[in-house]
Amino acid sequence: MRVGVLTGGGDCPGLNAVIRAIVRKGVPEYGYSFLGFRNGWRGPLEALTKPLDIPAVRGLLPRGGTILGSSRTNPFSVEDGVEKIRTNLQNLGVEALIAIGGEDTLGVATKLHEIGVNVVGVPKTIDNDLSGTDYTFGFDTAVNIAMEAIDRLHTTAESHHRALIVEVMGRHAGWIALHAGMAGGANAILIPEVRFDIEQVCKWVESRFRMDYAPIIVVSEGAMPKSGPEGEGTEVLRTGEKDAFGHVRLGGIGDWLAHQIEQRTGKEARTTVLGHVQRGGTPTARDRWLATRFGLHAIDAVHDGAWGQMTALRGTDITMVPLAEATKELKLVDPALYAEAEVFFG
Ligand code: F6P
Repeated sequence: MRVGVLTGGGDCPGLNAVIRAIVRKGVPEYGYSFLGFRNGWRGPLEALTKPLDIPAVRGLLPRGGTILGSSRTNPFSVEDGVEKIRTNLQNLGVEALIAIGGEDTLGVATKLHEIGVNVVGVPKTIDNDLSGTDYTFGFDTAVNIAMEAIDRLHTTAESHHRALIVEVMGRHAGWIALHAGMAGGANAILIPEVRFDIEQVCKWVESRFRMDYAPIIVVSEGAMPKSGPEGEGTEVLRTGEKDAFGHVRLGGIGDWLAHQIEQRTGKEARTTVLGHVQRGGTPTARDRWLATRFGLHAIDAVHDGAWGQMTALRGTDITMVPLAEATKELKLVDPALYAEAEVFFG
């Protein structure tokens, strides 16, 4: 059998480790051949391919990004997109597809499965917001990068008696902010799930300065003030631009916070936006381990004909869950977990 593999959406550390594991098991154990599709769903849509065999996956384990390239192409918003995919798969002799992606890429995989395409999913996102799995790979790397940044910012903040704000990724879910903020000893963590009160944030800042410390505030890019620039509970946007899945480009909440803190407390405040640094570079050991196991189980799922299913981590076991279930709703931060972190605010 010939199996197609694609990576879609925002890249993340560990994607290459999944591709490597799929090929390293699929060729010797099941006798499959592979075809890489380039640039997410654009690959099958436009028949953009890349050979994928054992020599092609050598040395991939520590490599960040994806050798297949990625995109946020949505075939359902392209005219005859689905028909083009079907025709291309048939012409290329691809009988099964492994789609490695987040909510959008796997959302497309879910719909393709419903119309009879043989698809298996592998969840990835640094945001860790996919349901059905305890963790996605890429998250641990992003958290460690953010934690290291917070550690470094503590010393410079204290030298200059400034409030420093760290803006991390997290469109709808505050997992990166929560984990990195707790690990890095942040004085406030602001996440999309809980609207924050700017007055309260300023009180925390002032109390930290009174203790002769400099405050570090970790904020998710999607966090919203109770009363923001555009009114109640609005996101701060970099531009009004939207991608093919209708997501607006976020960014700017850190600068907004710094401005508010300076105005309201009279203390100097600066912002560091970590941005794509969180997504680049080599994966941590934990992400390599998880990505490799997802790859091994994904190719087993192809062999089992487990179409419409996705690999998932439950405890330390890898299980299969229906794509439809995993893409139904996002996994958000539980208020009880956030409450644990609040002990350290201020
Ligand atoms: O896919 C997750 C994510 O990391 C979000 O947190 C963020 O909003 C988005 O990617 C930004 O991605 P890009 O700059 O590639 O559009």
